[in-house]
Amino acid sequence: MRHIIDITDISREEFDRLYSLFGDIIDHPGDYVDCCKGKVLGSLFYEPSTRTNLSFSTAMLRLGGSVVGFSDPGSSSVTKGETLKDTIRIVSGYANMIVMRNPMEGAAKAASLYSPVPIINAGDGGHSHPTQTLADMSTILRLRGSLDGLKIGICGDLKYGRTVHSLVKSLSNYKNVQFYFISPRELALPAYVRDILNEKKQKYFEVSGLDPVLPMLDVLYMTRIQKERFIDPLEYERLRGTYVLDTKKMRNAKKEFLVLHPLPRVDEITNEVDDDPRAAYFTQARFGMYMRMALLLTLSKLGETAPQRIDCDMPKCVCSNAKCITKTETYLPPLCYESDDGARCAFCDKEVSFNSI
Ligand code: NCD
Repeated sequence: MRHIIDITDISREEFDRLYSLFGDIIDHPGDYVDCCKGKVLGSLFYEPSTRTNLSFSTAMLRLGGSVVGFSDPGSSSVTKGETLKDTIRIVSGYANMIVMRNPMEGAAKAASLYSPVPIINAGDGGHSHPTQTLADMSTILRLRGSLDGLKIGICGDLKYGRTVHSLVKSLSNYKNVQFYFISPRELALPAYVRDILNEKKQKYFEVSGLDPVLPMLDVLYMTRIQKERFIDPLEYERLRGTYVLDTKKMRNAKKEFLVLHPLPRVDEITNEVDDDPRAAYFTQARFGMYMRMALLLTLSKLGETAPQRIDCDMPKCVCSNAKCITKTETYLPPLCYESDDGARCAFCDKEVSFNSI
């Protein structure tokens, strides 16, 4: 395990090891207070964050390590026009690990190309958010006991919700998981994530109504409509408030049921639901910190390695996605991979076209 760019960078065995470490940290926190003494975490948040930023910092402090960085890019050299590559080269000379959130899709992958220390993706635009998945998976496992056979409803903004993309990828490795994707058609799951489920022959249903499926579910993963990702603000206004989980709806859910949400919520779960013992989102946020402790501790034991050499033998590919990091950091090598329905960008997973050379 080196860079954590995508949830697939953590194998199932590695996840099991992290989960067992997570359990031990919860049970014996005193044993871990000095484990990262002398280590420094670089924390680069180019986009707003409460939980992810604070939980990473707290995780590092609880392990006895230190944190440097910024949570407002306005206070960094980004405003002077510094490239991501240069920022990463500098910070990787100061810190033993770097956690980064950036609004551009594929930014963490781009950073990893220039970093001799592990890069942890704390969210790259609407693309992916692997460490939130660590929080989500550990919460389900700890509160439910197993991930196999899970009937999970994922509701809200499945198009731009990066936590959804990473969670679906991760759950696709477990047996007989049934996915119910609940969203307006405009906010359906991206094709590249559906492709993964199809490849793995996982059962999934795409529906627009929450009420009909709610009684069948073991877990409901609610998400916020991602206002900041919409190109057309009117479309956001039209779609906001589509789903609201309230105490009346909760009456139709199973007794052994869990409501998860990566948070922040806007209006998709009413405050009264918080008092229902099946509401697990605040526990989920706390477990996220323990999983991040497990991750930082594991990564802190790795030494530095030279950044990987990039040899690009593909013809020149051009990503179709205006929000891809290759559009702003134009020195990046054009990288792509083959998928069933054509070539995709290795940074953001969107379709590419080829320039004749
Ligand atoms: C999520 C994110 O940033 O993608 N929040 C988080 O990290 N816990 C979800 C969201 O912002 O809606």
